[in-house]
Amino acid sequence: MCGIVGYIGAGNPSSKPEEVVLEGLARLEYRGYDSAGVAVLAMAGLAVAKKAGRLENLREELEEHPLPHSFAAIGHTRWATHGGPSDVNAHPHVSADGRVALVHNGIIENYQKLADELSAAGITPISQTDTEIVAHHLSLLLAAGLSLLEAMCQLARRLEGSFTLVALDRESPEEIVAARRNSPLVVGLGEGENFLGSDVAAFVGYTKRALELGQDRIVRLSPTKVEVVDFFGTPDSGREFDVDWDINAAVKGGYATFMDKEIHESPTAVAETLRGRTTLDGHLMLDDMRIREDVLRSVDKIIVVACGTAAYAGHVAKYAIEHWCRIPVEVELAHEFRYRDPVVNEKTLVVAISQSGETMDTLMAIRHAREQGSRVLAIVNTHGSTIARESDAVLYTHAGPEVAVASTKAFIAQITACYILGLYLAELRGNKFVDEVATYLDELTKMPGRIEEVLEAEEEVRALAQSMADATSVLFLGRHVGFPVALEGALKLKELAYIHAEGFAAGELKHGPIALVEENLPVFVIVPTPRRPLLHSKVVSNLQEVRARGARTIAIAEEGDEEAAKFADTVIWVPRTTPTLMMPLVTVVPLQIFASELARVKGYDVDKPRNLAKSVTVE
Ligand code: M6R
Repeated sequence: MCGIVGYIGAGNPSSKPEEVVLEGLARLEYRGYDSAGVAVLAMAGLAVAKKAGRLENLREELEEHPLPHSFAAIGHTRWATHGGPSDVNAHPHVSADGRVALVHNGIIENYQKLADELSAAGITPISQTDTEIVAHHLSLLLAAGLSLLEAMCQLARRLEGSFTLVALDRESPEEIVAARRNSPLVVGLGEGENFLGSDVAAFVGYTKRALELGQDRIVRLSPTKVEVVDFFGTPDSGREFDVDWDINAAVKGGYATFMDKEIHESPTAVAETLRGRTTLDGHLMLDDMRIREDVLRSVDKIIVVACGTAAYAGHVAKYAIEHWCRIPVEVELAHEFRYRDPVVNEKTLVVAISQSGETMDTLMAIRHAREQGSRVLAIVNTHGSTIARESDAVLYTHAGPEVAVASTKAFIAQITACYILGLYLAELRGNKFVDEVATYLDELTKMPGRIEEVLEAEEEVRALAQSMADATSVLFLGRHVGFPVALEGALKLKELAYIHAEGFAAGELKHGPIALVEENLPVFVIVPTPRRPLLHSKVVSNLQEVRARGARTIAIAEEGDEEAAKFADTVIWVPRTTPTLMMPLVTVVPLQIFASELARVKGYDVDKPRNLAKSVTVE
């Protein structure tokens, strides 16, 4: 949840370590924005600045009280868990003897026991955080004569829970040491300098070479060397990879918000996710496939596990995969799956969907599935992430970095990846011929153009949102693949505009939710194509039902759908899309724009909604 950055460079002390860390924090601020802080290791020792609130507050503090030039720096942007957001609870935390500065992402579960030990040693913490406890313990181990690496190994073996820890030792200016368990950390490999980040966005402006660290690993960085060991000090290598994200992808590029920019990047996200997927003889391929074909052929059930928006992409996958492959597909929220003793075995394929690849609930679900003998295929956007590393196969969504907390282009890329997976399995298992798959792929390649068409009507959707600035409740209805789109439209509105919003399967309306409908209640209805007459007529009936009860109806309908237009107060047109299964790629876009605009009109921070973090790395 928190963002972590580290930097160490060669030569004389300079302002670069602080600059690199602040820049990295700006790119990682989406991970948490309750407070921010930086520690530098200078000639005269450690210096720390930290402030509650946004990174901007820290920058102001640094202008008033500049830090000295330094050899190395670490930084942190926080999403509070232990202890509320305040200056004193902000990271880095410094040990009582002033020797260690430490930042932490995660939760230390045996924190109370460690705190009791400190109190017996006469150390009283000044903050309410578990991190400060760890800082004190680290300094006690250093005082006992261990090196920073040895101390970190010993301490990491004692810690329970999830953590990325990054430490500076005043007595050792030529190194930074970090540890990770169940929490992200990537190394950036430079020339005469090295970097650490919660994800590659932290340092992609400086280097494109990165090193992925395994579970329970410790890394020691000097300006010229990167040393990886496990918690017992046994050397390990990590896995080097090249970062394909562009630095420009992580800046706003003329848009008012990252969310707006990312909505506009959806066509590219689809195109990139599709790019290079077919072999010369027309067969589909995934990125990192380590599951044997005979195993995939024997799969008799698929369970999609994910959270939030990613889970809604999973709902779309269910419709597509069941239709194309005739395999039963269940979709389950990862946190529910993990703790309900699910029936899974070696014939179950678990598909994990995650933008960040670090969502703890999803990670725990895939670990559980693998323990039961299931194979796990991950659909992930972030290279080097834990879920990608711990899965048996990976299908990357090449959406580029998504900075806004609200997922938009990543959702669209996830749906695209789900179609690719469905078609891949359909061909492999003999449900579809290569030429049939090619026809579907052909349709998919037209989707970026269709999304562009929807984006051209952006101003109308924004005007609609402006006219609804006072709405206190909004409903979303959909059937078939329109149902997950309705759920996603409601989630977007809740998380950004902080108003009551609910998505329903349109057929469920008459079983209860219709009682909510009253005069002028805005109701969005995602209307399927009239080319599916049975489905279409049912949804048009639902549209009529809510209109008859006074609702203000907004139909998202296919161009030329006069029947839907008859019962809608407003129609947002989307281009004709074949097959129907692919309609979510266009129907969700107006709902994303609507939520973004309503939040803007209400004066809220579109990119960083309250109480949320982009990457939820606690259970
Ligand atoms: O990184 P993930 O895709 O695993 O994240 C899952 C959810 O936390 C995420 O989709 C969340 O619901 C978004 N904020 C929605 O916009």
